[in-house]
Amino acid sequence: MKKRVLSGIRATGRLHLGNYLGAIKGMLALQDDPEYETFYMVADLHSITTPYSVEELKKNRREVIVDYLAAGLDPQKSILFQQAANPHHPELAFYLSSVVTIAKMQHLPTFKDKVKQHPQHSTMALLNYPILMTADILAYKAASVPVGLDQEPHLEVAREIARRLNQDYDTDFPEPQTFKTTGEYVPSLTGEGKMSKSVEGSYINLTDDLETIKGKLAKAPTDSGKGTLDKMSAGVSSLLAFVKLFQGEEKRKEYEDKYQREGIRYGDLKKELSEAIYKLLQPIQEKRKELESKPQEVDKIIEDGNEKARIIAKETVKEVREKMGLL
Ligand code: TRP
Repeated sequence: MKKRVLSGIRATGRLHLGNYLGAIKGMLALQDDPEYETFYMVADLHSITTPYSVEELKKNRREVIVDYLAAGLDPQKSILFQQAANPHHPELAFYLSSVVTIAKMQHLPTFKDKVKQHPQHSTMALLNYPILMTADILAYKAASVPVGLDQEPHLEVAREIARRLNQDYDTDFPEPQTFKTTGEYVPSLTGEGKMSKSVEGSYINLTDDLETIKGKLAKAPTDSGKGTLDKMSAGVSSLLAFVKLFQGEEKRKEYEDKYQREGIRYGDLKKELSEAIYKLLQPIQEKRKELESKPQEVDKIIEDGNEKARIIAKETVKEVREKMGLL
């Protein structure tokens, strides 16, 4: 039997370069590997665990799937679906919540961080975030989950729940592991931390045109352009990380040499870098345009994916209900 892989991206905004290089490239590699059966969803239920706009969510839960398709995820090879179109996920999450303590959930670093970000919004939905994520994974008995390292605490919860359920109710859930893909760490344009849609000025969207990319890079912080490498500002280090990602390691070395000699001209660097980034995005944007011209086809792909996912999740939930004495 093929190994199942499941991953998801929250529907909090349009996808950016960080999502593409960090997650989607890995998803693409797995969908083309005959050893795996791949499930990729948009985590629209998770989007309501922090403050959000109804109109934006309505749009984004479709747009993320369009971004998936534009980036090359193929409905013939992967099941692409919307979490909220699948009531079996929240149902399963409720059953799973019976084997987890409140204390355990309150101590997760991911929960604490979100509460710090939104102190007025410490809701039950937020506390349940990792349990819903576990339901996403267990509903398909997925063994591998390609996600960033920041999700490791959630995977730990998923493994613990799978173990407890298997022990107490004689189920056969695999303990899901983080799948290390060739995903790249993409820094923030601000020079601090990683590229993130919740940090203004940190990201480049997959839909940004050349002018927009140039404008965003223009705002990225730099320094005098000259000095020793150990004194290089965080902003310039991340610009050079981008150079490496999009123009190669050799180009980056060239700039490092310049930094220590005649100095870097950031205007030129940013112009060249913008063009290199746009070159990667252009085919994705063309594919997106094509998809936008046939909305019914996209609707059909989403409906089909949702239906396939529901059928499998429904089976799992039935099994859990039986084993738990609810059927
Ligand atoms: N929590 C994940 C993130 O923020 C998104 C997500 C939701 C997810 N459900 C999932 C990822 C299931 C992998 C598997 O990135």
